[in-house]
Amino acid sequence: MESVLHEDRVFNPPESFRKTAHINSMEAYREMHRKSIEDPESFWGEAAGSLHWYRKWDRVLDDSEAPFFKWFVGGRTNICHNAVDRWAEGDKAGKKAIVWEGEPGDQRVLTYADLKREVSRFANVLKSLGIRKGDTIAIYLPMIPELAVAVLACARIGAVHSVIFAGFSAESIKDRVLDASSKMVITGDGGWRRGSVLPLKSVVDQGVRECDCVEHVLVVPRNPGGERMECEMQDDRDVWYDEAAATVSDDCPCEEMDAEDLLFLLYTSGSTGKPKGIMHTVGGYGVYTYLTSKYIFDLQEDDVYWCTADIGWITGHSYIVYGPMQNGSTVLMYEGAPNHPDPGRFWDLVDKHQATIFYTAPTAIRAFMKWGDEWVDKYKLDSLRLLGTVGEPINPEAWMWYHRKVGKERCPIVDTWWQTETGGVLLSPLPGVTPTKPGSATLPFFGVDPAVLNPAGEEVSTGLLAIRQPWPGILRGIWGDAERFKQTYWCNWDGKYYFPGDGARRDDDGYFWVVGRVDDVVNVSGHRIGTAELESVFVEHSNVAECAVIGVPHEIKGQGLVAFVLLRGTDADGSDELRKELNNLVAEKIGKFARPEKIIFSADLPKTRSGKIMRRLLRDIATGNALGNVTTLADPGVVESLKKKYSS
Ligand code: WTA
Repeated sequence: MESVLHEDRVFNPPESFRKTAHINSMEAYREMHRKSIEDPESFWGEAAGSLHWYRKWDRVLDDSEAPFFKWFVGGRTNICHNAVDRWAEGDKAGKKAIVWEGEPGDQRVLTYADLKREVSRFANVLKSLGIRKGDTIAIYLPMIPELAVAVLACARIGAVHSVIFAGFSAESIKDRVLDASSKMVITGDGGWRRGSVLPLKSVVDQGVRECDCVEHVLVVPRNPGGERMECEMQDDRDVWYDEAAATVSDDCPCEEMDAEDLLFLLYTSGSTGKPKGIMHTVGGYGVYTYLTSKYIFDLQEDDVYWCTADIGWITGHSYIVYGPMQNGSTVLMYEGAPNHPDPGRFWDLVDKHQATIFYTAPTAIRAFMKWGDEWVDKYKLDSLRLLGTVGEPINPEAWMWYHRKVGKERCPIVDTWWQTETGGVLLSPLPGVTPTKPGSATLPFFGVDPAVLNPAGEEVSTGLLAIRQPWPGILRGIWGDAERFKQTYWCNWDGKYYFPGDGARRDDDGYFWVVGRVDDVVNVSGHRIGTAELESVFVEHSNVAECAVIGVPHEIKGQGLVAFVLLRGTDADGSDELRKELNNLVAEKIGKFARPEKIIFSADLPKTRSGKIMRRLLRDIATGNALGNVTTLADPGVVESLKKKYSS
């Protein structure tokens, strides 16, 4: 944050890029933005007109029950039709939709015609197993084409998908499957990650053991038509996808969906222990991901677009599947790790597949910087014309490296700020228009009216980010918890603004600089982890009496987690063995990616006299900052002993 405050470099869009961009002048952007704010219904009505509707909407926006907004009320559409059929039935039938590469180097290409066939066949398999419109299906797959196909197949028949990132544990699968009452889990026999196979099926078996709602587990083979990987099948429940697919037709009509029918649930962490199922609906989400993709990635007919996210996160939903495909783009998809077999893998993929647009996370960029310039310098990267980042603030040093080493000072960078809840990007440069500043997500997208406010609702230069009016991609609620929805996002400023939970600064040019969360959510490598979620895992261990988890700056991951653990009894010095047990517990309950950087055992934690743990002081200890006010502490001596432990 410190370095961001002193950043004053400005980079203008290159002339060659500007010339062909969909939007290419600041005046045009300002004018369109003004119209979109003054008359959102006309603006979004026109945008939606580029998509296919079985029945046109009666009203663009219904805000009569705010904050439960409805968009394109009365309209009927199908997002799978918009993403697949529109192209498969026209002159793009032979255009590549998905170009996929597995970690071992195997490749598959699906044209839009192929994709329609595969999605329809998949949809028919779902139907043959009793899935109907409105049923929820959990998807736990590696990054193989069938993950995109499964998601689109659900959308095609109106089943609600709930994708669970394949790094989550059995316990996390269970929580999500039960919360959504999923009738089916789609998984695979395995996927490659860093040279070994993920045993997905056995994780699912463990996860659904107590889930009576699950009628079938559908198992997709990683190597279609090839050898299957070993997995145990339960007779009455488990079905091999390829066997079921052989018995159904590859023709399946799209279900006509109401614009406000649920499209998917995606679970994300908040500041309490329980993950929340974010709800997105068909119409508004469809229009919003379509338009943001078109303008922010400036999608053109011959682009090869690569977003390195996993479809298990919102970025993959919106900007691998729905957004680019509703624009008829060619999407590159990669299964494995960025440094397998060596740290040049991403650049090798860019050159080999001639990617033109590359969208990744600051964490990845920082990892590449650490691995050394020689890996990126080995490749041409001359096909690239646009770069993007997402998921966390990018430090100017990483931005400059990305600009020089990957973009060769030729490609604009779009730093896109958004969230699972927002459905699509809210703040971002437009690549042919906006002068960029390293570390700033710059200006709002159309229809987005942001402000930086203090708790009293006054505009300030540094404070809380707030969004004044709804946009079509806004979440429709938290599954099963309307109260939490209102409490979390609409509790400030009399419910007049959406509150994303981020802090931001606005500079003299009106640019936004998002500096990170202001709640108890920590962003580790772009993955959101609630500190409360982790704390509740630690206290499940019989030796742990109490625990406080905080986020600390981390060179590569942006933020890392540190756990301060108070043990039961008189033992203040937990063993390495116990440390291992606690790490395993986190892996088992949430997933390996949530394991903390450091676990500090202690005989006491800094608390106020009323017993509240002072996390602010723990943060000061962990960052080596001067300690804030300690006079309210019950026992000021605790801090000194923790400081010693932390640095030892
Ligand atoms: C953070 C990912 C700064 C932010 C799409 C937000 C960012 C959270 C940026 C959402 C960015 C995302 N600059 N911070 N460009 N993009 N964030 O739900 O704190 O996984 O609230 O969505 O990531 O994370 P989520």
